[in-house]
Amino acid sequence: MTFAAPPDAYDRLMGRYSYALCEALTEAAGVEPEAAVLDVGAGTGMGTKRLVDLVGAARVAAVEPSETFVQALRERLPGSDVRHASAEALPFEDDTFDAALAHLVVNFMADPDAGVGEMRRVTRPGGVVAACVWDYAERMTLLATFWDTAASLASDGLGDRDERSGMRFAHEGELAELWRSAGLEDVRGGEIVVSAGYENFEDLWEPFTRGVGPAGGYATSLDGERQAALRDEFRRRLDVGDGPFRLEALAWYAAGRA
Ligand SMILES: C[S@@+](CC[C@H](N)C(=O)[O-])C[C@H]1O[C@@H](n2cnc3c(N)ncnc32)[C@H](O)[C@@H]1O
Repeated sequence: MTFAAPPDAYDRLMGRYSYALCEALTEAAGVEPEAAVLDVGAGTGMGTKRLVDLVGAARVAAVEPSETFVQALRERLPGSDVRHASAEALPFEDDTFDAALAHLVVNFMADPDAGVGEMRRVTRPGGVVAACVWDYAERMTLLATFWDTAASLASDGLGDRDERSGMRFAHEGELAELWRSAGLEDVRGGEIVVSAGYENFEDLWEPFTRGVGPAGGYATSLDGERQAALRDEFRRRLDVGDGPFRLEALAWYAAGRA
């Protein structure tokens, strides 16, 4: 279970993009400062923190199926309503929220139709349901470069160990199509571009060695020699070294009205 990793390892691998991503999605979706908002698959709360800054802790609810992350959310989001639950069975009444958001989650849902259907159900008529998924193939620089590197070194191929193989909703227009089939209205979509800063390559690499997410799971499945080869080639392809740098990441989003 790749999301059972220590919260600080998730923060360092992916969470450093989360606040900016949430900020961009709430802007694209038009979430108002007085809205009651649900964050579905809130992870460790790095993005949810943006919702708290926007609407206030009391108007934020978060659900998350990973127990370790739920614990982190409860510590980090005092005054917000944190529940241990999955998108497919949201523990809220119909029409509870003005907005329901899911950052980097719909692609991991066991049943995305049910998950988005639930997000629609708990959002009041006219409220907004929105989500985003990384552009894994190309412009999420960190993950695209990691998997290109891993594939280049795996003599027998990566098969379905490559997070990108069969990844759903990671191409332009796919989330919007799901949104329309879920019965959401005024559906719109497009790209969101954010970036994250790193002190140096080691700052980037360390969380991969702690097994977080599918990429960390793959890195830690390798023996020492192959993991070192992966690290060296990854660094070469990113063309970064001992100084600080930033990486850009593109996500596709969809937003629609319940
Ligand atoms: C890549 S993380 C994103 C976390 C957070 N939203 C962020 O942007 O930092 C994916 C999250 O989705 C959660 N998740 C996986 N399946 C889910 C489901 N069916 N319903 C809700 N959350 C789910 C995972 O536990 C994990 O925390």
